Amino acid sequence: MRLEDQRIVVVGASSGMGLGVCKTAAAEGAEVIMVSRSEDKLKTAQESVDGQTRILPVDASDVDALRKVFNGLGQFDHLVVTADAGTVTVPFVDVTRQQAEHSFLKFWIAFHSAQAAADHLREDGSITLFAGVAGLRPMRNGAALMSPVNGAVISLGKTLARELAPIRVNVVAPGSVDTGRWDAATVKGVANWAQESLPVPRAGTPADIADSVLFLLTNPYTTGIVLFVDGGLMLS
Ligand SMILES: NC(=O)c1ccc[n+]([C@@H]2O[C@H](COP(=O)([O-])OP(=O)(O)OC[C@H]3O[C@@H](n4cnc5c(N)ncnc54)[C@H](OP(=O)(O)O)[C@@H]3O)[C@@H](O)[C@H]2O)c1
Repeated sequence: MRLEDQRIVVVGASSGMGLGVCKTAAAEGAEVIMVSRSEDKLKTAQESVDGQTRILPVDASDVDALRKVFNGLGQFDHLVVTADAGTVTVPFVDVTRQQAEHSFLKFWIAFHSAQAAADHLREDGSITLFAGVAGLRPMRNGAALMSPVNGAVISLGKTLARELAPIRVNVVAPGSVDTGRWDAATVKGVANWAQESLPVPRAGTPADIADSVLFLLTNPYTTGIVLFVDGGLMLS
């Protein structure tokens, strides 16, 4: 098992790719600390993970609250941040300051999670942040918040790879990933689009993404990279 005796904190653990990372890390022998806001969602998610887990409900956009829970944890090996409060997609000219501030919560969650974790991470540990393909390639109109938010996370990851070294810091940029929350019409629409447009002609799965995170956690010579796990979307 590749993560035996390691402790991993996952912020955004109660659903989607964060939950996928928890399942993969626990299966590889890690103790997984599952963090997100809703305790009920965390309890349900915890039941679906086989292995050693603990849940910590906290709002990760609140750095003081995060510091308090991380102080109670002591040292850990890896931090993975998938949490996203939701990015607003509207035409650029209609974007309000309120929508922008809400969308940028994703950046602040990554920023504060890394800040609160820095003193707790072992020197040979790592941080993995989550951006999205939109951070480097705006895919469609209406991405005037989605692209800058993800671009900011990419830039933060590279910056921290320098400043927090030797702790390794990397960024995963997923393409279109079916986390089980799309309605039937969206599943069909994405399947058709992927078949016509993507080199790997399907939507991604949380397991595809979790596998890429496992690589970043375990490869000791990888830092400061943006790993696109997108079925070739960047080429399309
Ligand atoms: N799905 C895609 O196709 C796709 C594509 C490109 C990039 N991404 C990125 O990949 C990442 C994972 O996406 P996903 O679809 O797997 O996410 P998701 O299913 O929406 O999960 C988001 C998680 O974040 C938690 N969360 C939200 N706000 C929080 C806060 N303030 N503090 C703590 N936890 C918080 C949520 O739980 P609570 O609500 O209980 O807090 C939940 O566990 C995101 O950063 C997303 O932008 C996704």
